[in-house]
Amino acid sequence: MQMPEIQIAPSILSADFAALGADCERMQRAGAEMLHLDVMDGHFVPNISFGPPVIQSLRPRNRMFFDVHLMIEHPLRYLEAFAKAGAEGITFHLECADDASETLAAIEALGLKRAVALKPATPAEAVYPYLDRVDMVLVMTVEPGFGGQSFMADMLPKIAAIRAEAPGLAIQVDGGISEKTAPQVASAGANVLVAGSALFSQADYTAAVAGLRAAAQAGQRAQ
Ligand code: DX5
Ligand code: ZN
Repeated sequence: MQMPEIQIAPSILSADFAALGADCERMQRAGAEMLHLDVMDGHFVPNISFGPPVIQSLRPRNRMFFDVHLMIEHPLRYLEAFAKAGAEGITFHLECADDASETLAAIEALGLKRAVALKPATPAEAVYPYLDRVDMVLVMTVEPGFGGQSFMADMLPKIAAIRAEAPGLAIQVDGGISEKTAPQVASAGANVLVAGSALFSQADYTAAVAGLRAAAQAGQRAQ
């Protein structure tokens, strides 16, 4: 079966927040498909990032798909606010306090793409009951909460297991993704690559996005 196409999703956590709009426009011009927006509440993860107002400010200045990664304890309470702010897809964690089926139904009712995320300690099997109700699965390849951490290679079998269960589904990876790790995750079956530090640290975003995509495509071919 043909693998789903590689998509590149820059995580704004590593952007220059004083020049966020311009930085994101540059990523769009560089050819990235998705803008990855990391929302952290200081409870579900130890860090705090930003909420709907930042997303709302970016929305009119950008045409990329807005991919909101909620690292928060109670996603259900905030779905509507993120939808209003301009989210197109919402990812919540299976480990959060809210009921997954209810949360998926609520995201669908808002007309948004649904995704569930798995922390490193959560096994692949935990997502199997939801595979027919999600548009994407996010396999965290670091402990969520901070950018710039090292890739966890022991997540590769989890990606492969989910790919075997859902051949056509979008599988996203997030954490420590770079030109070095992209071939490994793509070869295991991931096709949506989130990258923060690896992209925003480069002077030439076009070369950075193209380099990451080429590395992932090489990994897909090596399957
Ligand atoms: C971490 C966030 C990531 C983070 C990735 O919890 O979900 O999206 O920004 O950063 P890098 O690519 O630097 O590991
Ligand atoms: Zn993320």
